[in-house]
Amino acid sequence: MRRNKKHGREYHKETRLIHGEFHSVHWNYKDHIVPPVTATAAYRLESAERGAEGFQEFANPEFNRHTHAPIYIYDRLDEPSRSMLEDNLATAEEGECAVCFATGMAAISAALGVLVKAGDTILTHRTIYGCTYSLLTNWMPRFGVQTKMADLTDVDQLESLLTRDVMVVYFETPTNPTLELIEIAAIRRVVDKVNATRGARRKIFIVVDNTFATPFCQRPLTLGADVVCQSLTKNIGGFGVDMGGVWIGPQLLEPDVLLFRKDFGASLNPKAAWQTLVYGLPTLALRSRQQIETALQVAKFLEGHAAVEKVVYPGLLSHPQRALAHKQMVDVEGNFTPGTVVYFVLKGSPEEALESGRKMMDHLADKSLAVTLAVSLGQIRTLIEHPASMTHAAIPVAAQVKAGIDPGGIRLSIGLETPADIIADLGDALAKVTSDLQTTSALTEYAFAASVSKTSSQVLDVKGAK
Ligand SMILES: Cc1ncc(COP(=O)(O)O)c(C=O)c1O
Repeated sequence: MRRNKKHGREYHKETRLIHGEFHSVHWNYKDHIVPPVTATAAYRLESAERGAEGFQEFANPEFNRHTHAPIYIYDRLDEPSRSMLEDNLATAEEGECAVCFATGMAAISAALGVLVKAGDTILTHRTIYGCTYSLLTNWMPRFGVQTKMADLTDVDQLESLLTRDVMVVYFETPTNPTLELIEIAAIRRVVDKVNATRGARRKIFIVVDNTFATPFCQRPLTLGADVVCQSLTKNIGGFGVDMGGVWIGPQLLEPDVLLFRKDFGASLNPKAAWQTLVYGLPTLALRSRQQIETALQVAKFLEGHAAVEKVVYPGLLSHPQRALAHKQMVDVEGNFTPGTVVYFVLKGSPEEALESGRKMMDHLADKSLAVTLAVSLGQIRTLIEHPASMTHAAIPVAAQVKAGIDPGGIRLSIGLETPADIIADLGDALAKVTSDLQTTSALTEYAFAASVSKTSSQVLDVKGAK
């Protein structure tokens, strides 16, 4: 809660995110209830001198664009609709300032890009979003930056991993897609210990991708992270109509992040910023509360299903890091908020589980209304995907297992549909998988018996099998 100047009363964060700042320094729109959207690539300058002033103040550490109206010059540098969203996102994450990008990947690229140079190393958790993995392993090495991957759930080994070359510790919590948790406060303690032995220019920064939790469920900056990244495309945008990303962190780093955005060019489009400012962020709490309630029901249903090997959801009693989930994943009022994504694994050998996953996806794509086969997450629609038969289909099953991709692993992002409908559609798809699996094992046993008896009369009529 923060005191509102005009009314002299403490307002809750949810209320403030609906209204935004009453008097934005970015744009005087006091007669509008809804903030307006800009639709101009360039801004008229009153004089050459004012133009020069604008260029001088942009990304100047002496100038605070959050307390003084900047001189707007060109959309890629800065513009008011996006700035209003940035102020609200900084409030939501409890950070000093925010800078928005065209996508979540652009925000992650900037967060890492401003903190490392040739010769440095980034330490990450072993499970991270695929495109972040590609950024770190395909692109960063071209600029002389290496990546070390480790199990960051094991904090005891962290100190030994923080060699002189490591400048950033990067992770998601919960992880995509397996919903492991990393203890942010524990990572902070170890990094502080190591930082105490380093000079001012060689301090390690902790960067957390908070996309799966969102600031509604978890605020990493309050737990010890230095920087937070988000894909606005997901829960914060919430409706799946636009892409976006945000960097949130200390004022000290903001000028570099703004310059990075200016020069690499991935600025968030003001129309997309406006959608997130007006529709996405103000409804995040309401949507999340409902989705969390449904996620728990769905997770319990899946946990009791015969075709499911295991379910991972931080809200379940069976989550291996349940105590940490309770400590770390809470809303601003302290309520337990275990997130809106459920991960589950289908039964069977790796080959069978892969095939079952593929069949389940095809069945849902064909028959389901409540569950949509699609990548992405955090929308009002329930979305499902099976990495092993979709994003990672080109990798052979044995190699998938070796790389930690569960052939039967399925990611489910819960939407706002009636829970019973989501459960019914998932139940139908799982029943199909179970009956096919039973038929397949019956056929396998039958074929085995046939081959043993070597009698031609027992030849299997596969076409007749249901
Ligand atoms: C955890 C996580 N981080 C970052 C991203 C990238 O976001 P965007 O698609 O907006 O670039 C994604 C996308 O799925 C994600 O799941």
